[in-house]
Amino acid sequence: MSHSASNIHPEFDRQIPREDKEKLLGQNGLVIWLYGMSGSGKSTIANAAERVLHKQGRMTAILDGDNLRSGINKNLGFSDDDRRENIRRTAHMAKVFAQQGVITFVSVITPRHELRDMARDIIADDYYEVYVKASYELCEQRDVKGLYAKAAKGEIKDFTGKDSSFEQPVAPDLIIDTEDQSVEDSVLSLLEEVRQRIKI
Ligand code: PPS
Repeated sequence: MSHSASNIHPEFDRQIPREDKEKLLGQNGLVIWLYGMSGSGKSTIANAAERVLHKQGRMTAILDGDNLRSGINKNLGFSDDDRRENIRRTAHMAKVFAQQGVITFVSVITPRHELRDMARDIIADDYYEVYVKASYELCEQRDVKGLYAKAAKGEIKDFTGKDSSFEQPVAPDLIIDTEDQSVEDSVLSLLEEVRQRIKI
């Protein structure tokens, strides 16, 4: 599948500078990379935080794993290689959004250090990493999509936390523990943390 293109000439100089776009929007672009197990609350927090910012007149976007996997990442499954390609594409998309001055929420499991490092390398200074923490047991109790029940019956291959590992993060910018923090409190603390970075 992976053929590298040759004869390409990337060129960004003729585009409107990022600063001008940010001035137009009155904000700085940023990627808020939310990761954690399936059902940990990534998408819930991203959606709630986006609504708050939108009401405050901010331009936002959400890149969600499930949604991307129904479109641009449709050809990818959950093997190590496919997850790596999923994160690579998602990180490059998020980077483009941030470069246009958009506050971009990403919610993808990103189960391994290597994948988080790759996202950080691609997005560089615009990367803000948030670990949405909840144990396998709690996610299994919530089981919003019924995936944990299916995984228990052996109906899902490479399920995160079961037969595909989830590595506990070392030093995320922020940890949101959804076992003992409400969605409202999580969103408040997240937005407080990024306030200075998104403000012009
Ligand atoms: S990854 O690991 O970052 O590439 O995963 P991601 O793109 O976030 O996709 C996770 C969503 O896919 C659904 N799903 C699975 N998750 C984990 N393991 C397996 N095997 C699996 N199969 C399907 C599930 O709905 C995940 O969504 P979230 O929002 O995490 O619950």
